[in-house]
Amino acid sequence: MADNEFATCLEDWEDLEKEYVQLEEGHKNYTKLLEQMTAAQKKCVADIAHHRYRIRRIMETLKKVGRDLTEEEVQQREELLQKIKDRKDNFREMEESLPHKNGIYLSIILGQVNVSLLDKGDKFKYKQEYEKFKLTVSNIIMLISLFTYFIQSYRWVDALLNFLLVWYYCTLTIRESILIVNGSRIKGWWLTHHFVSTVCAGISLIWPEGETYQKFRTTYILFTFYLTFVYALQYYYQSGCLYRLRCLGQGHTMDITVEGFMSWMWKGLAFLLPFLFFGYFFQLYNAYTLLMLALESNFREWQVVALAVIHFFLFAGNFLTSLKVIRQKLKDDGRLDFLSKKYKFRNHAHPKTL
Ligand code: COA
Repeated sequence: MADNEFATCLEDWEDLEKEYVQLEEGHKNYTKLLEQMTAAQKKCVADIAHHRYRIRRIMETLKKVGRDLTEEEVQQREELLQKIKDRKDNFREMEESLPHKNGIYLSIILGQVNVSLLDKGDKFKYKQEYEKFKLTVSNIIMLISLFTYFIQSYRWVDALLNFLLVWYYCTLTIRESILIVNGSRIKGWWLTHHFVSTVCAGISLIWPEGETYQKFRTTYILFTFYLTFVYALQYYYQSGCLYRLRCLGQGHTMDITVEGFMSWMWKGLAFLLPFLFFGYFFQLYNAYTLLMLALESNFREWQVVALAVIHFFLFAGNFLTSLKVIRQKLKDDGRLDFLSKKYKFRNHAHPKTL
């Protein structure tokens, strides 16, 4: 009996040896392809840099010869400038499937580890995960701030809330930097907003217990609750956009058109914007309250003035950037090429039937 089992083992092993030879061959093939791919990536990156350099030189010369051209040459010059613009767009498109260097912030935190996602599906998943992360943590912060509102005398609960906020905003800055490396067009201000918010939560965390702290505490907790509520609303808008744009970008069979997307986006914005602007005026109110408290307490605690300045800075940045975003969207509305350029719809598909 035992002999039989042993013989089966030997037979199995022989069998596996044959399969292993195939596995080894497959792996060798894979490493060779990987080496070829890395070499091709490096070559593409270098070639794009070379083309950019030569285009820069051509542009410099074009600037110099601008004055004494004939009418025909002026027209040729315009055509050339348009071709250069299109070529630059093509470079950007090519770069989406090539590895990128990390910015200074990511290099400091992560070093030169490669965070480039080369596949569109992976980029979409990462962005989706980022939005879900924001929603989950916002919900947790919302619950804690509600709890903190009713528990008056436990400073450690306030500290927990602020600590969570510091961690949340810090994590957002890292995730957003990775998104930017992978081609996301997040405006610089939103990233700055999360850096400044980290500092704001950090200062609130170390603000010593006292009369001034207690006077601002309720307003601050209500503001935190409101902010996370707005983040939750933002999630539904952003993930709706993301899903629809992905369907458009893939020429999906889902019944969606560019016009349909634009109309959905405007409806979403019309719903979201009043909540956002109410939040900005809440920030302005916080800045005013803190300034009054600083004056009242004769600037005894530096945290009060610092927070007043930060709340005002956040109000101004958010308010102006949101106005800029709306203005840009109004300008782009109806220009289908802006969407198709941004999300690279399939060339053969007509926008109406995408
Ligand atoms: N945080 C992170 N990413 C943001 C963002 C924000 N606040 N606002 C926009 N983005 C991202 C978008 O997802 C998009 O990413 P993608 O290129 O990877 O697809 C990119 O930036 C460009 O977005 P854009 O077309 O300019 O705007 P939008 O339609 O996606 O969103 C708003 C417009 C106004 C809804 C959005 O900018 C927003 O929510 N702003 C308010 C943020 C705020 O004020 N927070 C504090 C609350 S008090």
